[in-house]
Amino acid sequence: MKTTPTTELSHLKADFPILDSGVHFLDSGASSQKPTPVLEAMERFARTSYANVHRGAYKLSVASTEAYEAARRRVARFIGARDHNEVVFTRGTTTAINTVAFGWGMENLEPGDHILTTEMEHHANLVPWQMAARRTGAILDHVPITEDFRLDMDVLEEKLGDHVKMVAVTGMSNVLGTIPDVSRISHLAHEQGARVLVDAAQLVPHRRIDVNDLGADFVAFSAHKMLGPTGIGVLWGRMEALEETEPFEGGGEMIADVTLQSATWAEIPHRFEAGTPPIIEAVGLHAAIDYLDAIGMENVFAHDLELTGIALERLGDVPGLQIQGPLSLEDRGGVVSMTMDGIHAHDLATILDENDVAVRAGHHCAKPLMRCLGVAATARASFYVYNDVSDIDALVKGLRRAGELFGVG
Ligand code: ALA
Repeated sequence: MKTTPTTELSHLKADFPILDSGVHFLDSGASSQKPTPVLEAMERFARTSYANVHRGAYKLSVASTEAYEAARRRVARFIGARDHNEVVFTRGTTTAINTVAFGWGMENLEPGDHILTTEMEHHANLVPWQMAARRTGAILDHVPITEDFRLDMDVLEEKLGDHVKMVAVTGMSNVLGTIPDVSRISHLAHEQGARVLVDAAQLVPHRRIDVNDLGADFVAFSAHKMLGPTGIGVLWGRMEALEETEPFEGGGEMIADVTLQSATWAEIPHRFEAGTPPIIEAVGLHAAIDYLDAIGMENVFAHDLELTGIALERLGDVPGLQIQGPLSLEDRGGVVSMTMDGIHAHDLATILDENDVAVRAGHHCAKPLMRCLGVAATARASFYVYNDVSDIDALVKGLRRAGELFGVG
């Protein structure tokens, strides 16, 4: 049995002060912890260079604007965007998806058009499309999952016709860990003239993406799941797709001109950034990307997968435990959902917490998927750079204890 990942990153734990408490933090899928260089970059900027951006001629505002725009260029480089103006800062993944569902959807969807989504979507990539469908008369359809927790590509191909205008798909399921083949989906969708949006909230923090290889038209993700702060996310859009999109929020600095009756829009991306943006948070996201790139995204993903492999192997021996997700490491990431016979997921998480193991329990904002799995909730462990085998040992020990307490097995 393998006990030590070859991509050993344990030395990084020291960079995360919150882990000094000894907590086995296995809930990075919900939000990741922040390393000292990110915390320090934000504090340094707030102490020395902060002012509002794009609004002042004075030196502090110029410095602040430069830091904010440098973050945009850094994000663009990280995801392989050809033009940094394709990077829009939002409040998070949810706002990024709503920007497309409303800004693109209201302009481009007509009664009878189809929006194709999947059974494994987070509510954030489902509810905005339900709202857009209701307002435009478009029809929301979905692709099911297979028995081995993969996206059913045969059904996807059957459902893709020229009436489909948008395919909204997760880059990695926050419950199953499944990574659908987005490049292929984008290729198939584009053959039918549909646009593609990827909810990459769980993907970008863990695996190197190149938006051009991915082939989608819109990619959404959040800083707080990739060692950065809350309050900032990214909507990358292919320029021609952003040009089809109307601003979804109006306000200061997103305009070219305003009269009492009407307004014209600023250039892309600024027209999508109404109001004072998350400035200190952009600096934090920049530092988080520097930190991840210093590790190497290939090492991040290899580490996640090695821990997942070790966890799946050990969890297989825990009496009464079922894994709700693929058992093979192929096309999956470091999220492991579990149910145990006769124990509610919340009880499981509470007992694990008594052992200082932090996992998320519940429906994970994916209620349609829970129904499809036939469960009310799961307990979910998710891995990141600061985890190591000691966290899996604690998880397995806690689950065995829960099983004993409830007389499972
Ligand atoms: N979307 C986050 C999760 O899956 C909150 O836990």
